[in-house]
Amino acid sequence: MTDSKNFKAVVAGTGAYLPEKILTNQELEKKLDTSDAWIVERTGIRERRIAAKDECASSMAAKAGRQALEAGGLEAKEVDLIIVCTSSPDVLFPSTACFVQNELEAFGAAAFDVSAVCSGFIFGLSVAEQYLKTGRYENILLIGSEVNSRIVDWTDRSTCILFGDGAGAVLLKRVEWGKPLGVMSTHIYSDGSLSDLICVPGGIGKSGINKDDIDDKKYFIKMSGNATFKVAVKRMADVIREALKFNDLSMEEVSLLIPHQANERIISAVADRLKYPLEKVFMNIQKYGNTSAASIPIGINEARRSGRIEPGDTTVLGSVGAGLTWGSAVIKW
Ligand code: COA
Repeated sequence: MTDSKNFKAVVAGTGAYLPEKILTNQELEKKLDTSDAWIVERTGIRERRIAAKDECASSMAAKAGRQALEAGGLEAKEVDLIIVCTSSPDVLFPSTACFVQNELEAFGAAAFDVSAVCSGFIFGLSVAEQYLKTGRYENILLIGSEVNSRIVDWTDRSTCILFGDGAGAVLLKRVEWGKPLGVMSTHIYSDGSLSDLICVPGGIGKSGINKDDIDDKKYFIKMSGNATFKVAVKRMADVIREALKFNDLSMEEVSLLIPHQANERIISAVADRLKYPLEKVFMNIQKYGNTSAASIPIGINEARRSGRIEPGDTTVLGSVGAGLTWGSAVIKW
C-alpha cells in the first residue's frame, strides 16, 4: 500500500474547445420575450456558444483533451485514465469518456464519466487527485464537456438564456509530494434533499422514456432560479473558506479565484462574502454563459494561456451545481 502523502497531482497542460456558432442576446430577443438589457443586468451574459449539428459532448471533449495533451507534451497512448465530467452525455451509455478514449486512440486508459452537473469538474478533480496521490496512476486526462443547448427548453426564457456549450480539459500528472505545487486540496459536498432546485425531471430508469414526459418537456432543464441563487452564494463561499482554512491560506495569498460561471451576480456576491477583490476573480460568463462542468476548465485554460496564472501563483476553484453539489479546490502553479 502506497502512502498517500508520497505523491501529488500537478496540472501539466490545459485545453479548451468552444463551438464556432455564437448566439447573442440580440438574437434571443427575436425569439423570446426577453431583452439584452434584462439578461446582462441579471446574469452578466452577452452571448453563448452553440454546438453544431455534428458536435456533441464527446467530440468537443476530445478536442479540448487533445489540446491539453499537446500542451503537456504527452501522447494519448500514455494516458492512464480519462474522466469526462458531463451532464449532457452523448447517450445514456456507454460513457462519454469511452467515446473520447476512442477518438483520441488512448487505448491504454480506463475511461468513465462523473456526473455532478456544474460541480462536475471539481468532483472529477477530487477523484483524479486520489488516483495520483496514491501512486495508482501517472497521467490523467480530466475533461468537462457540455452540450447544454440540447437539454434546455428554448421556449423557457428563465433557463435557456443562461446556458451554453463547450469543453475544457486539464492533463494531471503525478509528482513527488515534496514539490510545493499542484492540487493542494479538494472538498466536495452533496445535498440530495435539494435535488428539485435544478433538474431534468424526465425519468429514464425511474419511469421509462414516455410520451407524456416528452410532451411535458420533462427532458429539459427545470430550475427554481431564485432559490438556487441564494443557496449557491452561501455554499460556494463556505466551501472556499473551508479550502483556505485547510491550507492555512488567507484570501490575500490567493492570486486568482476561478468560480463556476453560473451568473455574474452569484460570482460577485461570493467575492463580496469573501471580501475578495472582483479584479482577482476570473470571469468569462459574458462570452460563454453557463457551460456547467466545462466552465472551470475553460476558465483555467484561458487564465493560463493569457498569463493570468503564473508560476508560483495560488488559484482557488469553487462551484455549485444541481444535486445539490458544491466543492472547492486549491492549486499551486
Ligand atoms: N427575460 C425577461 N424577463 C425574465 C426572463 C428573461 N429571460 N427570465 C425571467 N424573467 C422574468 C420572470 O418571469 C419574472 O417576471 P414576473 O416578476 O413578472 O413574474 C421576473 O423576470 C423576475 O424573475 P426572477 O426569477 O425572480 O428573476 P431573478 O432576478 O431571480 O433572475 C435568474 C433569474 C434565473 C437569472 C436568477 O435567479 C439566477 O441566475 N439564478 C441562479 C440560476 C443558476 O445559476 N443556476 C445554475 C446554478 S449552477
